[in-house]
Amino acid sequence: MRVLVTGGAGFIGSNFVRATLGRGVDVEVTVLDYLTYAGSRSSLFALEDQFKFVEGDIADADLVNHLVSEADSVVHFAAESHNDNSLADPSPFLRTNIIGTYTLLQAVRTYGVRYHHVSTDEVYGDLALDDPAKFTEYTPYNPSSPYSATKAASDMLVRAWVRSFGVRATLSNCSNNYGPYQHIEKFIPRQITNVLTGVRPKLYGAGKNVRDWIHVEDHNSALWRVLESGEIGRTYLIGSDGELDNLTVVRLILELMDKDPNEFDHVTDRAGHDLRYAIDSSMLRDEFGWQPHYTSFREGLRSTIDWYRDNRAWWENEKAAVEARYQAQKV
Ligand code: NAD
Ligand code: DAU
Repeated sequence: MRVLVTGGAGFIGSNFVRATLGRGVDVEVTVLDYLTYAGSRSSLFALEDQFKFVEGDIADADLVNHLVSEADSVVHFAAESHNDNSLADPSPFLRTNIIGTYTLLQAVRTYGVRYHHVSTDEVYGDLALDDPAKFTEYTPYNPSSPYSATKAASDMLVRAWVRSFGVRATLSNCSNNYGPYQHIEKFIPRQITNVLTGVRPKLYGAGKNVRDWIHVEDHNSALWRVLESGEIGRTYLIGSDGELDNLTVVRLILELMDKDPNEFDHVTDRAGHDLRYAIDSSMLRDEFGWQPHYTSFREGLRSTIDWYRDNRAWWENEKAAVEARYQAQKV
């Protein structure tokens, strides 16, 4: 199978490429990535001779048509992915997440190529902190931020292209990923690298917001199940029952790094901050027998901390710029 992976130099995409090349099956991988601030060839370190890398924009129709015409399937990760950045400047989110997805959909429509759309649980908005409910495949869309609104728009385009043009697409909406190669602007790696550089972790507001954590390898193992066995037109929810509030996560990071769990700062809350995400992944588990490998968040977090400690060269040069961006955004 010839797979075109968009956003393969980003966090989840690079882990997907690594996992795919390690599966021992006959797959030819091409990565299309624009290498924005969030993408890095170093995330694909030591794999270079096993796949083809194309630096380019998913909104470039000529390039996308050419690459799609040579593929059997497309797995679409490329996106602007950070909520805080979308609040500071929504425009690249509209271009990449909506126009970029549209460009890919037109190409897979033209060449009859199988397409999988990687999306987020944030399209469903948020749940109340005291509500036992979880998101299901039938939860109505209700996005809150510019980021999640553009992801919701892109999901809707995929559904329309399936129904109107017969595009062979599946969708998945996953909860918060953690693990190696995640950009240090994101919550968990930001706090780990804060501690490693002698800075106190930064918690938005009171830290009561809940996220449903899944290890990136578990997300990617689920994606392969959907790619191989998913029903065209269907949406699959991916999660591993990892609900924790942010305060608990910050304290656990400090504890696992041998620091006082109270050594963090409360900072200005994110505008429109979603309260709680929670995924009901029973459909995926029941239909495909999928199970997450990482059932202990504590152990997954411990290995993630070790990875950032052991791979300083991967993130160290970025740290000052990321924190300067947060300073400019006043968080
Ligand atoms: P990321 O920001 O780490 O990586 C995004 C990648 O896309 C980068 O390599 C970047 O260079 C590339 N890119 C950006 N604009 C591009 C363009 N115009 N053309 C080509 N490449 C471009 O993101 P991530 O966290 O790995 O997320 C990947 C996908 O998974 C996104 O679609 C995101 O919405 C979705 N998702 C993420 C999570 C999460 O917790 N991180 C959870 C659920 C779904
Ligand atoms: O739910 C899936 C989504 O998870 C993905 O679609 C997004 O691409 C991904 O970035 C993530 O979105 P969040 O906004 O939940 O992730 P983030 O890492 O930015 O923040 C996680 C939580 O931690 C959130 O409640 C905000 C909080 N936070 C974040 C940062 C960066 C802090 O308290 N302090 C921080 O410094």
